[in-house]
Amino acid sequence: MEHSTLRWGIAGAGAIARRFCHDVNQFATAGRVVAIAARDATRAADFASQQALPHAYGSYLALAESPEVDAVYVATIHPEHAAIARLMLEHGKHVLVEKPAVLRVADWDELVELAHRRGVLLMEAMKVMCFPAWRALWEQLPALAPVRRVRAAFGSCAEPGGKLFDPMLAGGAGWDVGVYGVWLYVALCHRLGLDCPAPRSELSRGPSGVDEQCRFYFDGALGGEIGASIVAELDKAAHLEGDDWQLEIAGKWWNPQQVRWWGETAGEIARPVEGGMQFQADHFAACVAAGLLDAPWVPQALSRQVIGILESALT
Ligand SMILES: NC(=O)c1ccc[n+]([C@@H]2O[C@H](COP(=O)([O-])OP(=O)(O)OC[C@H]3O[C@@H](n4cnc5c(N)ncnc54)[C@H](OP(=O)(O)O)[C@@H]3O)[C@@H](O)[C@H]2O)c1
Repeated sequence: MEHSTLRWGIAGAGAIARRFCHDVNQFATAGRVVAIAARDATRAADFASQQALPHAYGSYLALAESPEVDAVYVATIHPEHAAIARLMLEHGKHVLVEKPAVLRVADWDELVELAHRRGVLLMEAMKVMCFPAWRALWEQLPALAPVRRVRAAFGSCAEPGGKLFDPMLAGGAGWDVGVYGVWLYVALCHRLGLDCPAPRSELSRGPSGVDEQCRFYFDGALGGEIGASIVAELDKAAHLEGDDWQLEIAGKWWNPQQVRWWGETAGEIARPVEGGMQFQADHFAACVAAGLLDAPWVPQALSRQVIGILESALT
């Protein structure tokens, strides 16, 4: 199959599904969203009409069985990811699953094994890894090394009483936004060839029992402090330090467009973009076209490490 013709379907007609659909159909170079599935047929039809999609399905099974779709973007709330991804893989679809990919390492291992057996691609939608500024930083990072320390957070005030405060829906800061910072730490270790130690975690639980704030402290060759909150605004820039240099991923570091560093050497990467979700879709499509069963920019092994860290800390 030509990756220029990758046909996307989306499972779940929620908030992030709209952004993905918009960004891919507006800006992606390799593929188009052609279908939406929701648990409710009217909801799917409304989404399809608003986004000008030719196909709408009133169940995830109908999407899995659709001959019109090559790849499925799983955009439901996190506790549903594992079952829906499994359904799509069983039907031979390539799967891009939103973060956190799943909530248990055992589920991830099962999905990876299933994807390999079916000869299809499974990738977590950790979009930061695919932004042009990030790819440029990844190229330049070894020249700046050794990196001694990383500090990053993701925190904002979520709707009080909403799904993120519900323990039955795997609410909490760690799964929702801590996953970004833990990914950053794990990916840096991978890029720099360093071991990734288990972190010490501090959780602050709210009245519903979910972790409203959490912090992960990593000791090792790369020190790390990763914060997450659903009740407070936290610093949006990420910071890396070497012996005699500092680096900042400015703005919202999880949508990286500008990187600056200073010290013995100074430099800047500026890659302003429109949209943002199209880059992971294009990387995914390129991997499918090349017949890859794992995505080099967002490897399954790193998803596994991140899930393992969060599963140990949060459950
Ligand atoms: N990459 C990013 O930038 C980014 C940003 C935000 C969120 N996310 C991730 O994307 C996923 C979806 O987030 P969202 O904010 O888009 O969520 P959302 O709008 O609240 O819900 C997404 C879909 O999940 C299904 N759903 C909602 N509540 C449910 C319930 N109680 N039981 C079963 N299914 C339910 C619905 O599917 P139907 O339409 O079929 O009913 C809904 O449309 C999450 O895993 C989140 O972590 C990623």
